Amino acid sequence: MNRTLGVCYYPEHWPETRWADDAARMAKLGLTHVRIGEFAWSRLEPKRGAYDFDWLRRAIDTLHGAGLKVVLGTPTATPPKWLVDEMPDMLPVGVDGSVRGFGSRRHYDFSHDGYLEESKRITLALAKAFGEHPGLCAWQTDNEYDCHNTTLSYSAAARAGFQQWLQRKYQSPEALNRAWGNVFWSMEISEFSEVELPNLTVTEANPAHVMDFRRYASDMVVRFNKAQADIIRAHSPGRDVIHNFMGRTLAFDHFAVGADLDISSWDSYPLGFLEDRSDQDDAWKRQFARAGDPDFQAFHHDLYRATSKGRWWVMEQQPGPVNWAPHNPAPRDGMVRLWSWEAFAHGAETVSYFRWRQAPFAQEQMHAGLLRPDSIEAEGHREAAQVAKELARLDGELDDKAGRADVAIVFDYASAWAWEIQPQGREFDYFRLLFDFYRTLRRLGLSVDFVAADTPSLEGYGLVVIPGLFTWSQALIGAIEAHDGLVLIGPRSGSKTADFAIPETLPPALPDDILGVRVSRIETLRADMPVPVKGGGTIRFWREYLEIGAGTGTVLIAEDGVPALVAKGTRHYLGGWPDADLLLSILRRLSGQAGLAIRELPDGVRLRRHGRHVFALNYGAKPFDLADLGWSRDLLLGQRMLSPSGIAVARLADAGY
Ligand code: GAL
Repeated sequence: MNRTLGVCYYPEHWPETRWADDAARMAKLGLTHVRIGEFAWSRLEPKRGAYDFDWLRRAIDTLHGAGLKVVLGTPTATPPKWLVDEMPDMLPVGVDGSVRGFGSRRHYDFSHDGYLEESKRITLALAKAFGEHPGLCAWQTDNEYDCHNTTLSYSAAARAGFQQWLQRKYQSPEALNRAWGNVFWSMEISEFSEVELPNLTVTEANPAHVMDFRRYASDMVVRFNKAQADIIRAHSPGRDVIHNFMGRTLAFDHFAVGADLDISSWDSYPLGFLEDRSDQDDAWKRQFARAGDPDFQAFHHDLYRATSKGRWWVMEQQPGPVNWAPHNPAPRDGMVRLWSWEAFAHGAETVSYFRWRQAPFAQEQMHAGLLRPDSIEAEGHREAAQVAKELARLDGELDDKAGRADVAIVFDYASAWAWEIQPQGREFDYFRLLFDFYRTLRRLGLSVDFVAADTPSLEGYGLVVIPGLFTWSQALIGAIEAHDGLVLIGPRSGSKTADFAIPETLPPALPDDILGVRVSRIETLRADMPVPVKGGGTIRFWREYLEIGAGTGTVLIAEDGVPALVAKGTRHYLGGWPDADLLLSILRRLSGQAGLAIRELPDGVRLRRHGRHVFALNYGAKPFDLADLGWSRDLLLGQRMLSPSGIAVARLADAGY
């Protein structure tokens, strides 16, 4: 594979006389890819059927002429005004029942068949016009599904679609009543047409009802994406189909969308995410305000790699201050370079910066680009240039394949929906729980792969962790049975049936020969009432009372005598949400038992193994001496004294592996 750089460009924002110069400057910078077109519908079809593709052809020709490879976005995230006026019921409806109107973007409903047809029509027209253009290397479907919380819509179209979906799933109203437990509160129905959407209820709706609505809504995103992907494949042979996912977005099943893509990609805005999407306290946010959270980007690199068939990109990389977080600081010098290299450390093929030139108008006028609005190079430009030079020198040395990571984390979107529906305690959030495990493994210097819960392949992992899993798939139980490494299950894993009920044998609902443990009761805790565990650390937020059977032993016990961690052979069950210290000591212990090479790292320093190499990255504000980890002087890139924002790359043998 060739590791490459790209940029997002909007030819329709600039006079045509500038395009050639822009393209030449991109190529000179060392960029090879350029994504265009994803919001341009009003220019591509100003009136129904009046296609105007000539300007886009000239833009693609110009970029291609400069040697750039074009990724063309389908413009379906921004349906034009005339289309919305033609069928206003395509607009999404919020949970409060109000219509989400025209005037920004993503104003469409995934359930609306009429809009689906329109999206297919414009995709087909573009695919026929440009599918075989020699400058075109790939397509991006739509833009950031779920951005601005747009997966769920409570429209008439959604209600009709949901009813049909339920009919297919349950076949009879009786089966639905049984599965959901509708005898409770007289919720029984006698026709599928009686099923309402689970919003605007007096108090909470039935969790099984909401869960099916979440599954349905996710399926609608998959359907929408697949419809475009199929058209593109039929008319644009050899070109890759890509979608750009977002950070901390769980509303649809990214594994299912990924199955219809050639390349998964995501949009990485480290500083915006830290301000906007992090559970960390203010001191942490202050500490990393100009660097981003040291684990947030890596988490998504690993997650979206798992949704792909092996190939993944960063489609949008933050190049300077953004405009959309509560505060929008500038990155510390060197961070744009570090973020780019971190993606490559996790196996990215391409990192593409958002955007080429800062737009002086409209919603994102305060968002940096690689160029300032006056076309002078902005700070990010210099760092992108450095990455381009370093790639030219190093790319050939690096392996294509990352190889197995040390640890697998089982990840499951349905679990995120389930605990959003029924947190039971305010803090119980699936992403937050999984992120705690991920961060702690990284603090131990370990590399992580994510694995999908319904198609798990656990072979070769020293340690597998399965926190917060809603319900078991047979495939996962079989994989655990076959796995000879360590397994850590819980908290809350296997605590529901697929119908959102408590399993008959009580959680974690595993066969006794796997792990003889039952959760007899659970409680959730205020943040200020943690339960101390003997040996150090506490259980917080969520706590289980465990009963163990013969052959299962207690490993850790809370100070009040309740078992916190139990084990049967290599299989462990954790009965609560550990604080950072307790989680560190548990994962240190299990990783040690699994024979993994642990390197305890300070907050800002992280490692990532890739093939025969290891990358070190410093998000912190202090230098870090890699000699402390056993690194020799023989580095492919960087210095052994790793400066703030520094990166270093070594052969495994030269880094003490
Ligand atoms: C992304 C989006 C881009 C742009 C960018 C600004 O979420 O895909 O179109 O809005 O954010 O940071």
